[in-house]
Amino acid sequence: LSRQELDVIHEIPLYRPFVEKWAQVESFQARPDDLLISTYPKSGTTWISEIVDMIYNDGDEEKCKRDAIFNRMIYLARNAKDVAVSYYHFYQMAKIHPDPGTWDEFLGKFMAGKVAYGSWYDHVKGWWEKKKAYRILYMFYEDMKKDPKREIEKVLQFLGKDLKEEVVNKILHHTSFQEMKKNRTANYEMMPAWAMDHSVSPFMRKGMSGDWKNYFTVAQNEIFDAHYKEQMKGSTFRCQMEI
Ligand code: A3P
Repeated sequence: LSRQELDVIHEIPLYRPFVEKWAQVESFQARPDDLLISTYPKSGTTWISEIVDMIYNDGDEEKCKRDAIFNRMIYLARNAKDVAVSYYHFYQMAKIHPDPGTWDEFLGKFMAGKVAYGSWYDHVKGWWEKKKAYRILYMFYEDMKKDPKREIEKVLQFLGKDLKEEVVNKILHHTSFQEMKKNRTANYEMMPAWAMDHSVSPFMRKGMSGDWKNYFTVAQNEIFDAHYKEQMKGSTFRCQMEI
C-alpha cells in the first residue's frame, strides 16, 4: 500500500460503542452449532481460536481451519495493563494502524478509548453484563497462563466435547506459547512486510502476564489505577492485574 492509501485506512474509525457492536451480535442469523469468539484486541484471540480449532478437530492440527463462529459464545479478557503494552507493540508492527507515538502518548489514547476497537473498559464490562442473560463462557488470559489444562477443560465442557486425555495433552502442547511462536500461521508470518513488520515486534511477542511492569512508570501506574477505578465503577468485573 502507498503512504496515501495507508493514510486513508488510518482515517477510518475502527471503533464503535459496545451497544452498537452488541446489536450486530444479537441480529446475526447464527446456525445452532455456531460459536462466537470475542475478545478485545491483544487478549489472546489467536490463542483461544487455536484451542477451539484443535478441539473441533479432535486434536488434529492438519485439519484446523479458522472458519468457526455462534449460539454459544466464548469471551476472553486480559488485564488492561498487559493489553495496553501488547497493543502498543502491535500498533508498531501492524501497519494498518497509524503511528502510536511514544508509549506515554499511546497509553493516553488507550485510556481514552481512542484506539482501534475503542475502549477496553467498555468492551470487558459490556460482555461481563451480557453473560448474565446469554450463554457466554467468560475466560481470563491470566487463568489460561496459570493453568492452561484446567481452562482447556472448561472450554471442552462448555462445547459439550469429551476428548481423550492424550488428545487434551496434545492440544495443550500445540497451543503453548513456545509451540505457537514456531507456528508460522499463528504468528501471521505469511502477511506481507508492508502489512506486518515482524522485525519491529513479532506477533507472538512475550506471551506472559505482568509484562506491563516493564513499561509503566510509577506515575503512569498511579494515573492509570485512578482512571481504571473510575471507569470500572459499578461493575463487578475483576481481573488479575498484580501477577
Ligand atoms: P504479547 O504481545 O503480550 O506477547 P491477540 O491474538 O488477541 O492479538 O493477542 C496477542 C497476544 O496473545 C500476544 O501477547 C501474544 O503473545 C499472546 N499469545 C498468543 N498465543 C499465546 C499463547 N499460546 N500463550 C500465551 N500468550 C499467547
